[in-house]
Amino acid sequence: MRGIILSGGSATRLRPCTKVTSKQLMPVYNRPMIYYPLNTLIKAGIKEILIIVAPERAGDYLNLLGSGREFGVKFTYEIQDKPRGLAEAFIIGENFIDDDNVAMILGDNIFEDDFSEDIKNFKSGGKVFAKKVPDPERFGVVRFDCNMKAVKIEEKPKEWISDYAITGLYIYDSRVVEAAKQVQPSERGELEITELHNWYLKKGELEVAMVNGEWIDAGTFDSLLRAQNFAKEKMQEKLVI
Ligand code: DAU
Repeated sequence: MRGIILSGGSATRLRPCTKVTSKQLMPVYNRPMIYYPLNTLIKAGIKEILIIVAPERAGDYLNLLGSGREFGVKFTYEIQDKPRGLAEAFIIGENFIDDDNVAMILGDNIFEDDFSEDIKNFKSGGKVFAKKVPDPERFGVVRFDCNMKAVKIEEKPKEWISDYAITGLYIYDSRVVEAAKQVQPSERGELEITELHNWYLKKGELEVAMVNGEWIDAGTFDSLLRAQNFAKEKMQEKLVI
C-alpha cells in the first residue's frame, strides 16, 4: 500500500493567514497541520508517501519534511499547478502508484482513529469512511439503505440526502488512475473525488466503513479552532511523529 497526502489548494477560506503560507503548514496546537494526516499514514504502516503540493509552497514542504528518513519513511513530492480537484491527485500520482493499492488522505483532515487494520486488510476495489455530521452540506455525502449499504454519494448536495459525510481518507486499488482520467470537471470546475467513489459503487466494489472517533476537516477558522483544542486534549498520546 502506498500513501498520498494531498496538500495543495489555495485555502481562500483561511485568508489572510494563507496569503503567506499553506493551510496544511499552519499550526494545530504544537505541530504543523500536515503532521496529523502524516501520523495516520505512518501509524498504519505505510512507508512510501507522495506529498502533492502547490508550486509556490513546495520549498516550505521540503524544508519541513525532507526525505522522510527522520520519520522512517520515504517521501516523494509532486506539484499540482492549479487546484483542479481532488481526483487529479491520482493522475499526478500515476507513476508513483504504479500497480499498487493506494491510501490518500487530505492534508487538512485530522482523524482520531487508527486505520492500520483497514489498510493491512485491503485487497481491491475502494474503501471510504463516513461520519455523521451536523453540517453535511459542506461535504461529500453518502446515503445508506436500511441495511446500511451505501446507495448514493453526492458532492455537497443542495437538497438534504443524509447526515453522513465522506471523510478525507480514501483507499483504492490501482484502477483509480484510469477512473480519475475519465472524470469530467464539475460545475465548480473541479475533478470531484465523489466521481471516483461512484465509479467503484456502480461496480459494487465500494465499501463504506464508519469513523468511530473524532474527525475534523480543519479548513475553516471555526473547525481549525476545534482542531487545536482537540489536538491538545486528545491527540497527543496518539502521535508517533
Ligand atoms: O474533508 C472531506 C471532504 O473533502 C469530502 O467530504 C469531500 O467529498 C471532498 O470534496 C473534500 O471537500 P472540501 O470542500 O473539504 O475540499 P477542499 O476544496 O477544501 O479540498 C480538500 C483539501 O485538498 C484541502 O486541504 C486542499 C486540498 N486540495 C484541494 C483541491 C480542490 C488540493 O490539494 N488540490 C485541489 O485541487
